[in-house]
Amino acid sequence: MAARSMIVIVDTTWDIEGIRSQYPALKDGTVYLDGAGGTQVPECVIEAISDAHRSGLSNVHGPFAASRRSDQLIAEAREAVADLVGGPAGGVVLGPNMTTLTYRMAGALAKTWHPGDEIVVSELDHDSNIRPWVQAAASAGVTVRWARVDPMTTDLSAGQYAALVTSRTRLVAVAAASNLIGTMTDVAAISAIAHAAGSLMYVDGVAAAPHFRLDMASLGADFLAVSAYKWCGPHAGAVVASVELLESLHPDKLEPSSDQVPDRFELGTAGLANMAGITAAVDHLADLVPGTGDRRQRLDRSFAALRARENIAVRGAITRLTAIPGVRMVGAPTLRTGTICFTVDSHAPAEVAARLGEQDICVWSGHAYAWELTRALGIREAGGAIRVSLSPYTAESDLDRLVEAMSSIVYGSTAS
Ligand SMILES: Cc1ncc(COP(=O)(O)O)c(C=O)c1O
Repeated sequence: MAARSMIVIVDTTWDIEGIRSQYPALKDGTVYLDGAGGTQVPECVIEAISDAHRSGLSNVHGPFAASRRSDQLIAEAREAVADLVGGPAGGVVLGPNMTTLTYRMAGALAKTWHPGDEIVVSELDHDSNIRPWVQAAASAGVTVRWARVDPMTTDLSAGQYAALVTSRTRLVAVAAASNLIGTMTDVAAISAIAHAAGSLMYVDGVAAAPHFRLDMASLGADFLAVSAYKWCGPHAGAVVASVELLESLHPDKLEPSSDQVPDRFELGTAGLANMAGITAAVDHLADLVPGTGDRRQRLDRSFAALRARENIAVRGAITRLTAIPGVRMVGAPTLRTGTICFTVDSHAPAEVAARLGEQDICVWSGHAYAWELTRALGIREAGGAIRVSLSPYTAESDLDRLVEAMSSIVYGSTAS
């Protein structure tokens, strides 16, 4: 893993108009506040994917140029994801999405479990970092223990893991951030407890990666999962682990397919053109603010600036939204990403999202697959909540339009 020794100076000159001009989808005035469900893509990603097709792509490992180009695109995508999460390129498993890959990893890991072993999952998580583990545990006779959130704040205390993790724990699965509320978790503290007991850590970085810099080593993540379509890339996912760890696992695979790592975790033919899009998206993130350095250093700089900007924007949005009568934030996390979640008295979440949608303001309502969390908070049956989530291309004017539209919904007339 490359050393990350650079001192980062936050560049406060965030050229929002320059960033927005790179996104064709923004040109019609639609307000995309649905980044936690999936982001728009910049021109460079569209071009990289188109160019890959234009240049001629063939299946991998063949004795001709188009096939070598495919091999190259995959190798570059592994490098790019490794830079994004501070992991080894040789341990980047690529696939269609995080859910598919997590089921894959659960199947492989469960082969190493024995009846009486234990795993720990958290009710804060997206269901894709719960159900694959719960189902694998059921097949292997493994006990599932649950980490709970504070229902008022939605913080997931790291301290509770001291009681949940035992010498029988084989895996702790936890999100670095909630996809619904934005709650950030203390992954490093949880990892320290898990590792002291000899357990592996599977970290869902899908909702965190678009908002802050992930570094597997400092998180203590043995596995880290991300989805490129949440960070301005194509619909693809990745799980990153050390080569040694992947070498120790043997997923079900076809007899003739590669037994090399990471290839043996990848089923069938990859979305080859999307590989070019993954690399272009990571390069785009690295170049959100001007500066020099290698890609990891530029990512450090971009994410420092993005985080500073989103912290201010989120605080402002919460203040303005809660000034509207009946708007209630769900949770009050100590640390959060650029995602917020709220309910509105006398208006069902689906109705609010639909009314905003009529004004071309895109937000999600419901449980957002935070299935256990919405149950724990007692909001699932009432339709969940409304989720607003920021992306690098979110402008102040997007939030202005949201606040105006919310006022109009609540007051029943168009706010001036
Ligand atoms: C936190 C989190 N984890 C996992 C997933 C699943 O990702 P994918 O759609 O790549 O399977 C999502 C999707 O929204 C998510 O937000």
